Amino acid sequence: MILVTGGAGFIGSNFVLDWLAQSDEPVVNLDKLTYAGNLENLASLQGDARHVFVQGDLGDRVLVDRLLAQHRPRAVLHFAAESHVDRSIHGPEDFIQTNIVGTFRLLEAVRAYWSALPEPEKTAFRFLHVSTDEVYGTLRQDDPPFAETNAYEPNSPYSASKAASDHLVRAWHHTYGLPVLTTNCSNNYGPYHFPEKLIPLMIVNALADKPLPVYGDGMQVRDWLYVKDHCSAIRRVLEAGRLGETYNVGGWNEKPNLDIVHTVCTLLDELRPKADGSSYKAQITHVPDRPGHDRRYAIDARKIERELGWKPAETFETGIRKTVQWYLDHPEWVQHVQNGSYRDWVHKQYGAVAA
Ligand code: NAD
Ligand code: TYD
Repeated sequence: MILVTGGAGFIGSNFVLDWLAQSDEPVVNLDKLTYAGNLENLASLQGDARHVFVQGDLGDRVLVDRLLAQHRPRAVLHFAAESHVDRSIHGPEDFIQTNIVGTFRLLEAVRAYWSALPEPEKTAFRFLHVSTDEVYGTLRQDDPPFAETNAYEPNSPYSASKAASDHLVRAWHHTYGLPVLTTNCSNNYGPYHFPEKLIPLMIVNALADKPLPVYGDGMQVRDWLYVKDHCSAIRRVLEAGRLGETYNVGGWNEKPNLDIVHTVCTLLDELRPKADGSSYKAQITHVPDRPGHDRRYAIDARKIERELGWKPAETFETGIRKTVQWYLDHPEWVQHVQNGSYRDWVHKQYGAVAA
């Protein structure tokens, strides 16, 4: 049995679905179901006894203690977080609470559970912390990509809160011996991605005939990894990662945002051509830049490849085609997540431009 936090979010739900597609080892899924958590992502597991869903906060010590005592997991995989940079700029409080205080409380609960485990369960136990490349800050055009040895230089409330959580995880290993592993991954994309993030936002706005809001000059660079590849990396690190180590995970796919938006438009032009024959690219609109916007992220993923033999299976071309097709095939999922609170967010962030 494994315990996953945040398993109703984008990456967590993909992870749970992939895990149960490949193994019969049950999953306890602890998720608060914030705006970003969605049980529809897990609808295919309804009635499946291998998936135990628990709605709750990872900072609720009584609940987490009870779940650990009851289910006795061999590993805890920590996905839950507030994850959107723009929301962290508007309101950092939840990010401090969940990403820092929540991770601290979870670590304390796990430490108490792990300390009392008998051998050989104690030696076999793992705490895997899912983190981001954004903790390393920003790169200039000619800088080498982020290696695990780069200094932490987070620039947004989101990345600062994730950096703090990484430090707590590291300290719980060095001070208490908790058997931890950390992954720092680049930008994911794929099915069940909430349409506040770049790629799904562009797909759903394009189809709704709305502007495609590109921040600033659109030449900010991100590395993109198909979410299923991130999930396979996490499984591999859980299986064979060295205790206390961090592993950078990336897709070797550095691209400027404008290229991403053009690719999405080109695919939609092919798969769902507009009635008037025009391109979705005509909807691209430049909007004011994000404050403190990191210019470039890039990942050096050679350590995980060298030590654990992990490599992404998808290229950007294959992954983005699957992703666009998934959104075309799931209009009800999109419609359901675009509820009142989603509309409020779009209005707050984009005002009249994209609301
Ligand atoms: P997400 O926002 O889609 O999902 C987060 C999930 O955590 C939601 O289901 C939410 O309900 C849950 N949650 C939030 N606060 C909680 C709390 N206090 N207690 C319990 N559950 C809570 O995020 P995501 O994109 O799936 O990211 C998952 C993890 O991966 C995060 O830790 C994030 O920092 C990291 N990460 C994300 C990316 C990316 O591109 N999305 C890249 C690298 C790392
Ligand atoms: P995002 O998906 O929010 O991920 P992150 O900020 O964590 O990298 O944004 C990816 C890039 O796309 C980032 O440089 C900001 C940019 N962006 C836009 O240009 N317009 C948008 O509407 C959004 C949401 C993001």
